[in-house]
Amino acid sequence: MSLNLIPVMIAGVGYGVPETVITNEDLTKLVDTSDEWITTRTGIKERRVVSGEENAVTLGVKAAQNALQKAKMDPMDIDLIIAAASVPAHPYPSTACEIQAAIGADNAAAFDITAACTGMIYAMNIAKSFISSGIYKNILLVATDANSKYIDWYDRTSCVLFGDGAGAMVMKESVDGVDDIIAMDMHSNGKDGDFIKMPMNGENCPLVEPCEPQKQKIVMQGREVYKFVVTTMPESISNCLEKAGLTPDDVDYLIPHQANYRIIEAMASRLNYSDEKIIVNLQKYGNTSAASIPLAMAEGIEEGKIKLPCKAILSGFGAGLTWGTVIVRLREGIA
Ligand code: ACO
Repeated sequence: MSLNLIPVMIAGVGYGVPETVITNEDLTKLVDTSDEWITTRTGIKERRVVSGEENAVTLGVKAAQNALQKAKMDPMDIDLIIAAASVPAHPYPSTACEIQAAIGADNAAAFDITAACTGMIYAMNIAKSFISSGIYKNILLVATDANSKYIDWYDRTSCVLFGDGAGAMVMKESVDGVDDIIAMDMHSNGKDGDFIKMPMNGENCPLVEPCEPQKQKIVMQGREVYKFVVTTMPESISNCLEKAGLTPDDVDYLIPHQANYRIIEAMASRLNYSDEKIIVNLQKYGNTSAASIPLAMAEGIEEGKIKLPCKAILSGFGAGLTWGTVIVRLREGIA
């Protein structure tokens, strides 16, 4: 049986970041580290953090409004909001519902997904399926994380890596029959979930045996994550290129998850990509989890690093473990 799938387009992308900048030098006041160590091991120079009442929702709202404006769409046109938030303001109400209320998208259903830094790749897979099957027409995807609230700022092995930010994308039925989602590849490996973890600090009912108290902070085995990424990411990108029937030379840009410049370099060298083909902004923002790919994309277009129209490989990995790739067509006027 052949399915009559509806083609999908990316209509707008946007981002939102907090104002407050924390430099590598600033972190030396908290932990025994140096700008030299952080820069050479990761490529990160500074990151943004929320302050006062800012959180994943307020950042997500900025990014969502920005993407809707670029897509020239009213919030009331949106049928579904998917938020990818690994460190939301609270488990419920969902980040997606809070963003819905703040932007006035009263006609939308809204829910969150958790795939950590792969959140936007997972959300794009879900949105593509909903639109292609005719269930929804206009979907707003918001990837937003305020990691800084759950970082152990006295653990030098993790606190230097993360930052806060949000990225958003509007996906809708294609207006010209061309599908902007060229190929997708998505994976998980729950067995190695301990490599990156953020426990919740709940307690058992006082009438039963107490449980071990947990610190609600990000814990990570950095070296294990590194090893996992450098083997799985190139494989995922190759799979996706094969599904698309493309070679690396057929694609203009790699927009990877912004976790570590050494990881990005390794991926780029496998593709034989020169610096202009790799979109990197981690020196300014650190690892912003799910937000990092759409943030790098929207900012890269705004700054003219990404010339439109083009084809791009979006590739991410994160806690779960999760990883995946999407090859997209990016049209003129989306950011
Ligand atoms: N400053 C100074 N020294 C440090 C710091 C720091 N911030 N952090 C660790 N060190 C020390 C260690 O204590 C160790 O010292 P020792 O040799 O005396 O024991 C030494 O530096 C080397 O430590 P390693 O952990 O082996 O350093 P490595 O080269 O592996 O780099 C890093 C660590 C940057 C974390 C790297 O492993 C990495 O990027 N891993 C991937 C992490 C990642 O991408 N996480 C995001 C996942 S996405 C998500 O879903 C959240």
